[in-house]
Amino acid sequence: MATAVTGHPDADGHFSAPLWRLLQATAEVVAAVRAGQSATAALQNVESGLRPGAQALAFHALRYLGRAESLRALLAPRAPPPHAAALLCTALALCWRDSDAPYEVFTLVDQAVEAAKRSAATRGQANFINACLRRFLRERDALVAASDRDPVARWNHPRWWIERLKQEYPQHWQRILEANNSQPPMTLRVNAGKCAPAQYLSKLAAANIAAAPVGEHGVVLERPRPVHEVPGFDDGVVSVQDAAAQLAAPLLLHGLSAGPTARLRILDACAAPGGKTAHLLELGRAEVIALDIDPARCERIDETLRRLGLKARVVAADARQPSAWWDGEAFDAILLDAPCTASGIVRRHPDVRWLRRESDIAQLAAVQAHLLAVLWPLLKPGGRLLYCTCSVFRAEGEAQAQTFLAHHNEAVLRDAPGHLMPQTGAKANGVPDNLEGDHDGFYFALLEKRAERVSAAQSV
Ligand SMILES: C[S@@+](CC[C@H](N)C(=O)[O-])C[C@H]1O[C@@H](n2cnc3c(N)ncnc32)[C@H](O)[C@@H]1O
Repeated sequence: MATAVTGHPDADGHFSAPLWRLLQATAEVVAAVRAGQSATAALQNVESGLRPGAQALAFHALRYLGRAESLRALLAPRAPPPHAAALLCTALALCWRDSDAPYEVFTLVDQAVEAAKRSAATRGQANFINACLRRFLRERDALVAASDRDPVARWNHPRWWIERLKQEYPQHWQRILEANNSQPPMTLRVNAGKCAPAQYLSKLAAANIAAAPVGEHGVVLERPRPVHEVPGFDDGVVSVQDAAAQLAAPLLLHGLSAGPTARLRILDACAAPGGKTAHLLELGRAEVIALDIDPARCERIDETLRRLGLKARVVAADARQPSAWWDGEAFDAILLDAPCTASGIVRRHPDVRWLRRESDIAQLAAVQAHLLAVLWPLLKPGGRLLYCTCSVFRAEGEAQAQTFLAHHNEAVLRDAPGHLMPQTGAKANGVPDNLEGDHDGFYFALLEKRAERVSAAQSV
């Protein structure tokens, strides 16, 4: 029998399920992330009717998982088995403070205990979970104050991540972590081939949807909504893309010309799911090869292009092995949106911080260096390669570009924003070299190949 308490539907009335059931599904996602699986993959295992609600609660819980695990350790120094720990931490993350609890905290506690009783995986710990949560309700202020002494609770990131940011950004690390813990807005890219941003904003205003412009082609919605309810999404007028990611295609194309009739020949080397491929095609006459190592993700490039009515040659291959996919004709431009730690998009993917290890940074930096070294020779003299990552760590950004430049005297660094720190809200958060407006963390280096080779003697 369903309890009387139901999970609230979202603003558009898309889900309604008993809250205990949603809490079970949410805890399953949290347990999967703690076992190393991405939240996106874990959500695929959640029954479709529960998925939107479970996603909203799981993202909330993951944003406060550091706090919740610290509180759990204060309540029960010996960790319970993983499923019970995940349910307890989910409940603590959702109700640790009233100001942003998604439900009344007593309701959350009741329903978390109900969730424990109704699953074979947690039934044996239901009394324990009940005792922990009731004690938490009685002693909440003192427990929260005690957990404040733990930086993992205070900042909701792993300790190594906090230390790394402190070291790399001694003036700004707190603001970066705060931005990571905030909820990002829904940002759209208006298809330049179909509509001007001002025209699209008028369309939104006519539909009573509050929005503001951002960057050259972007629009930020005041309230997120399901994509298929965004005017023009299904017709390819707009795509969902963060404002920082929207900088890539114009940066690469600006000032490049293929002459009056020819098309620019562009390689998008790490293209899936195709956001930047599509933007390149929306902006100009280009012939784009969209490459990705993951065949399943290549299908997502096809879907993106189909919706927008665009065409590219989509190839599933390893960019590090051009002999398997390159026809020998050099490119005017290469976009290398390299695999990275994704440390700049934590506000959109709150699981990322719990999935990464510090050793991933060096491992991914080595892959990025390999990709840069292999793809550079495929560029025409006078051509440009845009290297970007959605990471704030210097090893995946500035340090990578500097090392590359030190070994390639035919490469010139052109104007590009460099490292951008994540920022939520329209106002700059005081981090230097930040763009105005709301955006994810990113790094951009625009590398141009000199038209003539420079000898070592000339370059000094
Ligand atoms: C940051 S994502 C790209 C996002 C994409 N550019 C967009 O804007 O939608 C990085 C992509 O690189 C792909 N990748 C990783 N290693 C690769 C390799 N050696 N060759 C080609 N693609 C690779 C991953 O599968 C992933 O889809």
